[in-house]
Amino acid sequence: MNYRHAFHAGNHADVLKHVTLLALCDALTAKPTPCFALDTHAGVGLYRLQGDKARKTAESDDGIARLRRGDDPLLKRYLAAVAACRTEHGADAYPGSPWLLAHALREQDRIACCELHPEDAAALAANLADDPRVAVHARDGYAAIKALLPPRLGEQRFARGLVLIDPPFEAQLDEFDHALAALRTALERWPQGMFALWYPIKQARALHPFYRSAALLQAKSALRIELCVRADDSPLRLNGSGMLILNAPWQFDARIAPTLRVLESQLADPSGARGWTRLDWLRAPA
Ligand SMILES: C[S@@+](CC[C@H](N)C(=O)[O-])C[C@H]1O[C@@H](n2cnc3c(N)ncnc32)[C@H](O)[C@@H]1O
Repeated sequence: MNYRHAFHAGNHADVLKHVTLLALCDALTAKPTPCFALDTHAGVGLYRLQGDKARKTAESDDGIARLRRGDDPLLKRYLAAVAACRTEHGADAYPGSPWLLAHALREQDRIACCELHPEDAAALAANLADDPRVAVHARDGYAAIKALLPPRLGEQRFARGLVLIDPPFEAQLDEFDHALAALRTALERWPQGMFALWYPIKQARALHPFYRSAALLQAKSALRIELCVRADDSPLRLNGSGMLILNAPWQFDARIAPTLRVLESQLADPSGARGWTRLDWLRAPA
């Protein structure tokens, strides 16, 4: 396990993932019923964009640092969450997915975060230590899907909630198979849950087998949200990323479409090679 998210925090992929994550949380909390969120690959929860690791790659310079305030509601929501994190933790702080879940969810909700790297798991536990809604598990997030779904709190069963699967893709294309297997298990155990898988895009054409398998998952719907900040013509670098959303909230495609266009206009590589976005249903809602 060589991957450390501190080198990549706040990059264009984090922006897409975290904008989408907050929008999903807001859809979940529109009803008062308690929700459960499982973050299978959680990272440390809180990052320093002026720290040595982040400065070494400077990836956030082409991500969060490029964003301008505007009127788009989902982008405003995300920037407000980052600002809230900075008020609490300092001007160079950047929130990871566990922090954003804790920020967006309510007192009646519960959050489980898994992180396999022992140092990162300890840092995550320290970062969220004051929040009684959050349980940190130093364990394999894929195995946790079996152990923690369907989610319960004592006698209470959660009918609503979200699973975020955000692996490091160190196993390259094999990771797609691991993630698809995890989604099959998750859907069997919690069919009414909402599921979000983040994935990297180097060359989108290499992902066709993944798209075909994703369309066959036994979900009510499968939505593909993709943002490439430059042409996806190099197998060697992260040209963009995607979020596969299973059982997306009602009309989530229409809600996120304008945001995706704004993100493309603000994050596309200015050096000339055009970026692109894609938003479509691999499995349309019935
Ligand atoms: C992309 S990062 C997570 C970023 C985080 N979700 C966020 O958005 O802030 C992936 C994390 O998964 C951890 N990891 C790798 N394999 C894992 C596994 N099998 N189970 C749980 N965590 C794992 C890595 O140590 C790394 O911190």
